[in-house]
Amino acid sequence: MNYEDKIKSSETHVFKVVFPNTTNHHNTMFGGKVMEMMDEVAFMTATRFARKSFVTVSCDRIDFKKPIPADTLVELIGKVKYVGNTSVKVSIDIFVEEMYAETREKAVSGDFTLVAIDENKKPTRIFEK
Ligand SMILES: CC(C)(COP(=O)(O)OP(=O)(O)OC[C@H]1O[C@@H](n2cnc3c(N)ncnc32)[C@H](O)[C@@H]1OP(=O)(O)O)[C@@H](O)C(=O)NCCC(=O)NCCS
Repeated sequence: MNYEDKIKSSETHVFKVVFPNTTNHHNTMFGGKVMEMMDEVAFMTATRFARKSFVTVSCDRIDFKKPIPADTLVELIGKVKYVGNTSVKVSIDIFVEEMYAETREKAVSGDFTLVAIDENKKPTRIFEK
């Protein structure tokens, strides 16, 4: 598979139900929970892209543009947007959908950088030259 195809096929979509155990006192999803889900989907995307062992090294600004109310569905979409020597940058967008209507809008976005590591936990090249 060529490089562009790997980027395309590693695009990762995960749906979740916004259950009450993930919300705060405003009855919207807790920001820390949102970041956890984003990190997990970034990890899945990087792993599916390179099939290497990854750790998160950094995340860029995360924009919480809309609240995510309880009793909705969310879709997280992970896409590889930059490939370095040992690191990969993954963008994560979250869309919120009402359960009983066709309403859907982007709520959150942010980028995560993950580094491929070897058996000694040192950075290793994503692809051999
Ligand atoms: C990730 C880790 C192995 C990197 O080791 P390091 O010696 O700092 O790595 P290097 O300086 O050689 O950089 C490796 C790559 O990471 C990138 N990088 C390092 N720090 C970065 C940062 N803060 N932001 C973005 N990229 C970063 C470098 O640009 C480099 O990319 P490239 O090879 O594609 O050019 C090390 O920092 C680590 O173990 N961190 C803890 C990870 C962790 O526990 N995460 C949470 C749980 S998953």
